[in-house]
Amino acid sequence: MNLLYLLAWALSALGQYTEEKIQLAISNVTSMAQAAVNSSAVPGVSIAIVYNGSVVYSGGFGVRDTSTNESYTADTVQQMASVSKPLSATIVAAMITASNGSLAWDNYTNSPGAVAPYSDPWISQELRLYDGFSHRSGLYGLSGDDLEELGLDRNTILSRLQYMAPIYPFRAGYTYSNYGITAAAISTSDKMNMTWDDAAQEYLYGPLGMTSSSSSFAEFLTRTNRASLHVPASQIPGYSNSTNATQWEPTGLRNPDAQSPAGGVSSSANDMAKWLQLQLGLGVIPNTTNRLIDEAPLNETHTPFTVRGKSAFGITSFYGLGFGVDYRQMGARSSPMPVPLRSRDWVAFWDGIYGGLEAAESGGAPTFGAAPQNPSPMLAAEAYTGMYYNDYVGLMQVAAGSNGTTSSSNGTSNTTTSGSGGGGDLTISFPVTSNMTFPLTHWDRDTFSLNTVPQLNTAIEPVIFAIGADGNATTVMVDRLNGNGGGILNRVMDNSS
Ligand SMILES: *[C@@H]1O[C@H](CO)[C@@H](O)[C@H](O)[C@H]1NC(C)=O
Ligand SMILES: *[C@@H]1O[C@H](CO)[C@@H](O)[C@H](O)[C@H]1NC(C)=O
Ligand SMILES: *[C@@H]1O[C@H](CO)[C@@H](O)[C@H](O)[C@H]1NC(C)=O
Ligand SMILES: *[C@@H]1O[C@H](CO)[C@@H](O)[C@H](O)[C@H]1NC(C)=O
Ligand SMILES: *[C@@H]1O[C@H](CO)[C@@H](O)[C@H](O)[C@H]1NC(C)=O
Ligand SMILES: *[C@@H]1O[C@H](CO)[C@@H](O)[C@H](O)[C@H]1NC(C)=O
Ligand SMILES: *[C@@H]1O[C@H](CO)[C@@H](O)[C@H](O)[C@H]1NC(C)=O
Ligand SMILES: *[C@@H]1O[C@H](CO)[C@@H](O)[C@H](O)[C@H]1NC(C)=O
Ligand SMILES: *[C@@H]1O[C@H](CO)[C@@H](O)[C@H](O)[C@H]1NC(C)=O
Ligand SMILES: *[C@@H]1O[C@H](CO)[C@@H](O)[C@H](O)[C@H]1NC(C)=O
Ligand SMILES: *[C@@H]1O[C@H](CO)[C@@H](O)[C@H](O)[C@H]1NC(C)=O
Ligand SMILES: *[C@@H]1O[C@H](CO)[C@@H](O)[C@H](O)[C@H]1NC(C)=O
Repeated sequence: MNLLYLLAWALSALGQYTEEKIQLAISNVTSMAQAAVNSSAVPGVSIAIVYNGSVVYSGGFGVRDTSTNESYTADTVQQMASVSKPLSATIVAAMITASNGSLAWDNYTNSPGAVAPYSDPWISQELRLYDGFSHRSGLYGLSGDDLEELGLDRNTILSRLQYMAPIYPFRAGYTYSNYGITAAAISTSDKMNMTWDDAAQEYLYGPLGMTSSSSSFAEFLTRTNRASLHVPASQIPGYSNSTNATQWEPTGLRNPDAQSPAGGVSSSANDMAKWLQLQLGLGVIPNTTNRLIDEAPLNETHTPFTVRGKSAFGITSFYGLGFGVDYRQMGARSSPMPVPLRSRDWVAFWDGIYGGLEAAESGGAPTFGAAPQNPSPMLAAEAYTGMYYNDYVGLMQVAAGSNGTTSSSNGTSNTTTSGSGGGGDLTISFPVTSNMTFPLTHWDRDTFSLNTVPQLNTAIEPVIFAIGADGNATTVMVDRLNGNGGGILNRVMDNSS
């Protein structure tokens, strides 16, 4: 886990905008960053502070990888996760500017091509770019995230959103959705006949000189000064707080390309400072008089579209287009946040890709039911193995895992053979749509556990088979996919197909 602090300090809170007070604000923020690193709250942090159109500070603290101890600098490239959303909204605003009137925030998401039909044909017709970017389409929030985790690609995922029931009526509420934003963004680059990654480069990163920034994972991997993702060592299986001194362990790569507009940007503090200057300059390229983005489509991204409840300060909180919008002068957390109380007097205080997650984690590791002392044995593997299907997930194959055994009888002799691999007592995989296989570990009779993030001990969820009168499974419930009913699959073919 890496944190990037990105500030446009709300100087009004400091009273008069004197040079002295700016220096005080900078030293305050940098000491907080150093303290966060010293206490292992984070492995590394980078900060850029923009004041009055200029970058008045940028720097890094801590390390970008705890296994190498390489320094975190203002040029270290990190994965931006959900801070991709305001960047992508800026990219759309730039495309709208460049389109000479052929694109607008109120364009239909689905025209000209059906990028992502929703469950209701009327909604599919009516959905506009701003609906996806303001999380008000009614799409269940985790739609698509769960499929991405199983290795499905962007187009497949977008084509499945139509099978997910809405969780509230169209435009009647707020639910944060990565794929709602992705569908709207892709629809925009489609209209410009470009890939999203190319559009991002052409309309934002290139003109602004954000040379370390990209919306493509492959590009991120080419950066030599890049931050690794880290996980708290205490959540790694095998951790013992009496023997493991490490707080943070680098973890595997995360390829967010499928939801790139919502979560796939990589950038550095120095590049983000250029973006912040562009924002504060209302669309003008820093140090120039060249306008990249018209004020109107840029301002729309900072306009409240959706009410999202009360902020931490008890004041009504809004979402704009890719941006949270709060009417409070200071103290935003977790996302770039324009605070439109006064012109250009807003804080963008992002304290970490996983700021929210970190808060959730500090509540303690999740607890799981104790494994049964005397679990009932599973049935023979072939009672479960075979193909399962629903429209949302598509085909899912359950096969024997290499831990378990499969028995077969030819009438005169029973043979017992190991499954084909992947560990577990059973495995699940997704023919055609994914090359990933996940082990299922037996828990009790027809209940198995699935851990989609094997390097952590915090992502374990049940998979439960229902057995029919003939002794074979008829359906399976994959809890990880079942937040809104997408995880119940029917058995469709026998194992031989
Ligand atoms: C930063 O400023 C705040 C508010 O003035 C103060 O409470 C805090 O102690 C300061 N922190 C550091 C590290 O200077
Ligand atoms: C997008 O909006 C613009 C401006 O209102 C309009 O001219 C254009 O026809 C719309 N494009 C589509 C595909 O609906
Ligand atoms: C995209 O391609 C279509 C079909 O070739 C064409 O009609 C349209 O004008 C193109 N749009 C842009 C922005 O180039
Ligand atoms: C913790 O320490 C034990 C004993 O040295 C070791 O086996 C284990 O791999 C370590 N776990 C982590 C997460 O570092
Ligand atoms: C290890 O963690 C447990 C549970 O969080 C805690 O009760 C215990 O005091 C810790 N031990 C050490 C040596 O930190
Ligand atoms: C803007 O100008 C300043 C002062 O000349 C320079 O330090 C800075 O790098 C320039 N910024 C950009 C984005 O070109
Ligand atoms: C955009 O917002 C800025 C700051 O609130 C304001 O000064 C400017 O007039 C707005 N421009 C347009 C075209 O609405
Ligand atoms: C049944 O399986 C046993 C053990 O694999 C084998 O020896 C025997 O020939 C098989 N019988 C038939 C009819 O296939
Ligand atoms: C094979 O196993 C099944 C179920 O375990 C058992 O009912 C059957 O009698 C066995 N057949 C032979 C030939 O051992
Ligand atoms: C069974 O499979 C799981 C998941 O792959 C693995 O963690 C576990 O070590 C395996 N157990 C045995 C006894 O092979
Ligand atoms: C799965 O496919 C992707 C995309 O083709 C590839 O990058 C990845 O390495 C593959 N993973 C495995 C486990 O084969
Ligand atoms: C259960 O399914 C297997 C194939 O997966 C099949 O061979 C077997 O006959 C089925 N059992 C019953 C009782 O239908």
